[in-house]
Amino acid sequence: MCELCVELRTYLRYGHHEAIVTTVDSSGSVNSAPMGIELRGDSILLRPYVGSKTYSNLVSTKEATINITNDSKLYYYSLFTPQMLKYSPSKLVRPPRILGDVDLYIECEVINIDNSVNPPLIYLRSLCCDLGSGCKLAFSRANSLVIEALVHYSKLPVLIREGNVDGVKRRVDVITYAYEVVERVGDEELKLIIKDILGKALTLIKDLES
Ligand SMILES: Cc1cc2nc3c(=O)[nH]c(=O)nc-3n(C[C@H](O)[C@H](O)[C@H](O)COP(=O)(O)O)c2cc1C
Repeated sequence: MCELCVELRTYLRYGHHEAIVTTVDSSGSVNSAPMGIELRGDSILLRPYVGSKTYSNLVSTKEATINITNDSKLYYYSLFTPQMLKYSPSKLVRPPRILGDVDLYIECEVINIDNSVNPPLIYLRSLCCDLGSGCKLAFSRANSLVIEALVHYSKLPVLIREGNVDGVKRRVDVITYAYEVVERVGDEELKLIIKDILGKALTLIKDLES
């Protein structure tokens, strides 16, 4: 454990936080996905769904690099245009670090997997932390709402599979609200991003209706 590992509580002080988790599969292929993370004692807790690549990679290769960032664009890229992400090697684990506006890198190893709940709980031990170049972001409603919209968007496939029409409607309402606000207070790229998220959500619903 390094000095920064001990300071993780400063970064993860509000309970559940969002981050981008980079993993590799057994052939070394890199995957990054937005995931919620939480500090539990000295461990970092992830809850990746069983069907996700992140889950299967963590089970098979047992390492992750957690990229702590508030930059909604990195969340969007990791979900929809992963080719936009650039990487640099990590120090102690195979999953690399995302280059760009990242505040903190946490290189971790899996220490326990609890499959008795859904989603499973994956406990990680932090091996090495380093500061990134940083987001240098003043609070932006547009930036926060894009991350919020992505969270709700990524819940839609499960709700649709379950036939939970009310749940789907509520999520789409939140995305629509985010769209309206980002249109007013976001920069041009965020406006394009939120338009794309709303468009993708409406396409998913169309499939539900047909
Ligand atoms: C901010 C944010 C947080 C998310 N947190 C989780 C999470 O904790 N667990 C999960 O399974 N999916 C979570 N998701 C959804 C996944 O990122 C999404 O399903 C993704 O496609 C999984 O990618 P993968 O199959 O490459 O692992 C989150 C999405 C966003 C935008």
